[in-house]
Amino acid sequence: MADRFTALMLRETDGKVAAQIETLSEADLPEGDVTVRVIHSTLNYKDGLMLKGLGRLVRKYPHVTGIDFAGIVETSAAPAYKPGDKVILTGWRVGETRWGGYAQKNRLKAEWLVPLPAAMSCAQAMAMGTAGFTAMLAIMALEEHGLTPDSPDEVLVTGAAGGVGSVAVALLAKLGYRVAAATGRAAEHDYLTKLGATSIVARAELEQNPSGPLASERWAGAIDNVGGPILANLLAALKRDASCAAVGLAASNKLETTVIPFLLRGVNLLGIDSGLVPYTRRVAAWDRIAQGFDWALLDSIVTNIGLADLPAYADKILAGQVRGRVVVDMDR
Ligand SMILES: NC(=O)c1ccc[n+]([C@@H]2O[C@H](COP(=O)([O-])OP(=O)(O)OC[C@H]3O[C@@H](n4cnc5c(N)ncnc54)[C@H](OP(=O)(O)O)[C@@H]3O)[C@@H](O)[C@H]2O)c1
Repeated sequence: MADRFTALMLRETDGKVAAQIETLSEADLPEGDVTVRVIHSTLNYKDGLMLKGLGRLVRKYPHVTGIDFAGIVETSAAPAYKPGDKVILTGWRVGETRWGGYAQKNRLKAEWLVPLPAAMSCAQAMAMGTAGFTAMLAIMALEEHGLTPDSPDEVLVTGAAGGVGSVAVALLAKLGYRVAAATGRAAEHDYLTKLGATSIVARAELEQNPSGPLASERWAGAIDNVGGPILANLLAALKRDASCAAVGLAASNKLETTVIPFLLRGVNLLGIDSGLVPYTRRVAAWDRIAQGFDWALLDSIVTNIGLADLPAYADKILAGQVRGRVVVDMDR
């Protein structure tokens, strides 16, 4: 039947969550004004948690997760979209409390979508995905707080070989910033240099206990994907009036620090939430990615997989073993 399609369904049995490929029909889709044929989705850290039943993000099973996708509109009751339009979805708790991207079809609210920029394919959009979108939001926030490529000092990116980190390094480098990439993986030094990092910082160096509430002024800005002691340490080493965009918690959701860097150096800690970004800012961020990313780097950043490969890759991303971005081809 024409309306049959494939999904990776999460089911809970005796408190354990397992994923399996299932065939569904349009009658299974949630309510919404736009039906999209999903072409590509991705694996983000949060997807890894949900695929393994962790993080208390999914409260109701059976469930289709996948926090982002790009696809083609099949039907639309919303004036903003017509059949054939290409669209991107990130955020709005899609994949968490709502049907997500790990199905060949989705039905949802038009207001959660943005048009795919003309210069971008669905595959390119999901090579960026939530991670790349968030990296751009972090850069925009830093720039709005005074960061410019003129600085002779480096912008620090932590968790640099992960999804947000890889795209952040590449975007910053293309924009003309000097970028220090902090990683725990010695094997990824060449990769990060190829993305444009001007120096590599060993994760262990940033994990060391600080000798006081302030360290030597070092970073023109920072994008932090890990939280915990690394975030505390980098705050103490920001240049005067510089900012850090707090994006992630790959190491810890804790932040133990003092207020001294804020009071004596005027530094800023900028929270980044990619989930509920207003429409015009979402469009602006995607346009900047379309124009500002060096697409020649895509092959080194992306691993392509199919729906059935997701559970194994969830283990890898939770273990910090995924390099760059994992893109899911829905027809693979
Ligand atoms: N705020 C938002 O809206 C938003 C949006 C997207 C993602 N996030 C969050 O941002 C973080 C990064 O997401 P992602 O998709 O890039 O995940 P990812 O691909 O798994 O990357 C995370 C990276 O963090 C580093 N890392 C892992 N475990 C670590 C540890 N114990 N200590 C220090 N560093 C560690 C690793 O980089 P190295 O191997 O290079 O050290 C890893 O590749 C996650 O916490 C995610 O939930 C937030």
